[in-house]
Amino acid sequence: MLSLQLIALGLLPTALAETVIYPNVIVEGPVDVEYTFQEGSNIDSPKLLPNANETTYDWWYFDAKSASTNQSINVVFFNGGPGAFINSWNNGPQSVDINGVFADGSLIEETAASADPNANGVITFDETSISLEWEGSGCSFTGTDVNTPNAKYVVSIDSPATGVFGTITFDSLGPPTLLFDDGVGYHDKNWGDRRFVEVVQWWYWGHGRAGPYSAVWFDAFDREGNEHVSGYVLKDGEVVFSSCDAGSVVVRPWGANSLFPPQPTFDVMEGIAAVFDLGDKELVFNVTTDQTQINGAAYLRLDGPLKVTEQGPGSSDEVFHGISLYENFRLP
Ligand SMILES: *[C@@H]1O[C@H](CO)[C@@H](O)[C@H](O)[C@H]1NC(C)=O
Ligand SMILES: *[C@@H]1O[C@H](CO)[C@@H](O)[C@H](O)[C@H]1NC(C)=O
Ligand SMILES: *[C@@H]1O[C@H](CO)[C@@H](O)[C@H](O)[C@H]1NC(C)=O
Repeated sequence: MLSLQLIALGLLPTALAETVIYPNVIVEGPVDVEYTFQEGSNIDSPKLLPNANETTYDWWYFDAKSASTNQSINVVFFNGGPGAFINSWNNGPQSVDINGVFADGSLIEETAASADPNANGVITFDETSISLEWEGSGCSFTGTDVNTPNAKYVVSIDSPATGVFGTITFDSLGPPTLLFDDGVGYHDKNWGDRRFVEVVQWWYWGHGRAGPYSAVWFDAFDREGNEHVSGYVLKDGEVVFSSCDAGSVVVRPWGANSLFPPQPTFDVMEGIAAVFDLGDKELVFNVTTDQTQINGAAYLRLDGPLKVTEQGPGSSDEVFHGISLYENFRLP
């Protein structure tokens, strides 16, 4: 406990930090949304000013999965209007979704939120660090050296209302991917200036780690029928793939329940594969579904064993084994 507290102290932003205070109520009318990430700024900074309105959202996502047991944990800090993102509204714009799987396979499905409109969201940040607390929810996190290979995050949950207590520490493995205990962890930042359901039809997103490889993949269809992809792959901590070019990464389900494109009525698919085109070779990240963390009509969050195959012309395939966590939005 003591060492955790010392770590947390070391994570607090410096004197040059800026603090944004979000009352736990939305604002009327247009708000400022940061459209383009500015070089040198903090990717984790709040993107909505002075706060969220009805249709805008901002979220901070963390997950971690043990390599040796079923255990996983997923924590998402939301700030968004009731019509902005799915399910994040909880009598106020600030909420924290806590999901996961215990070792015995049972599920944690909780939302921590303050019902008090006077509870503030307090975010202090500078170029390389952040601390965020949704007052009254019992949930907060700190991050330091963000945007660098040394990023470190500590997520703290002390929520009697949901019965969830604990601290998750993430140490960076490379620029985008974070290591957790004996498993893999991940953090990202998302925001939007339009209702999520007006924009997205379906997507597959996930990340995984096996042997020297870790990767993140994203393959989405918008409401106009356009496919958008992005992904990156690290090998031994070095970026070997980073692209959002059409076709450079393709994610599709396979096996039972793998009808495509995905529909809200579909059962959990047997697995998915993300294929990265590295020019001279293909990397296939192939996951077999093991645990279903969230099984909703419009949303699945799954994890399972990962097989990474490196397929180069004229060379025999190299295969690595690891784990992956992935999701599938499939909106009506
Ligand atoms: C919320 O803010 C966004 C961005 O300024 C704006 O486009 C949108 O119309 C606003 N929504 C409402 C309901 O006022
Ligand atoms: C993991 O959870 C499943 C149920 O989903 C259970 O059958 C299995 O025994 C668990 N594995 C371990 C190692 O506890
Ligand atoms: C992924 O693995 C499954 C099961 O072995 C296999 O049927 C499928 O073809 C693989 N997908 C790709 C893209 O290699």
